[in-house]
Amino acid sequence: MTARICAWCRGPIPDHARRDSVTCSKRCRQARHRFTTTVGTGTPVAHGQPRRLAYADPPYPGLSARYYGTHPDYAGEVDHAALVASLTADYDAWALSTSAAALPEILALCPPGSRVAAWFHGSRPNKLARRPVSTWEPVIYGGAIAVAPGQPDASRLAARRREDALIAPARARTTDPNRVIGAKPAAFCRWVFDLLGATPADHFTDLFPGSGGVLRAWEAFAATQRDTSPPADPTRHTGATRHAAAEPQSLDLTGPVSH
Ligand SMILES: C[S@@+](CC[C@H](N)C(=O)[O-])C[C@H]1O[C@@H](n2cnc3c(N)ncnc32)[C@H](O)[C@@H]1O
Repeated sequence: MTARICAWCRGPIPDHARRDSVTCSKRCRQARHRFTTTVGTGTPVAHGQPRRLAYADPPYPGLSARYYGTHPDYAGEVDHAALVASLTADYDAWALSTSAAALPEILALCPPGSRVAAWFHGSRPNKLARRPVSTWEPVIYGGAIAVAPGQPDASRLAARRREDALIAPARARTTDPNRVIGAKPAAFCRWVFDLLGATPADHFTDLFPGSGGVLRAWEAFAATQRDTSPPADPTRHTGATRHAAAEPQSLDLTGPVSH
């Protein structure tokens, strides 16, 4: 019999577990439940042209080696100019996380009309610092983020008011063995999907997957579309663009799950 894999920690599910168990323990079941209910689901939309959405969460400029030097996907400093060029050329709408300190430098690389949203994650335990401690992280976003009048889901998105600031604590996801420094919480993921005006029919690419949590959140958000979608058109752009050494992960629920 093939070993069953826990849908949260990806470890084996014990043989004695119930046949319908998808997690290996109560701890994983509860962690998965908390995460997916915080993300929530998107309302399925009529089939149109799915948009290509991307999220990039690269290491902060200048800190890649310090925090990720031993990671398998580490590939030196990220070329932010090339990253922004790819986000704006290859995707219909995009979001890019960076540090408050690097914001002026990174925003200067972004096209006119790019916007800045703020995630207030609060204080992290820190040694006394000589400068004020940053308690927030900017998200630069752009592209087709407005909901076009007449779009099937316009009234739904208008009803769910989108805001460009989020207050949500950053806590280490201790139940996730793949967690990395800077892994984003479920509330953040949903907020970014909403900033981009995402619908579950869209195609989402995570360019710096880290823990894989953002893609996991997309999977929860877009699950409602899965059963209602026609087979994917293989001639369509997949939106998965390789950046540096990271293997971007995409989910297009209009077709077979690609990871
Ligand atoms: C801030 S973390 C991403 C966290 C992710 N959003 C999550 O929620 O788990 C940045 C990731 O980029 C990886 N990385 C570091 N240098 C890289 C490079 N030059 N190219 C691609 N990925 C890199 C790191 O190893 C790390 O996994």
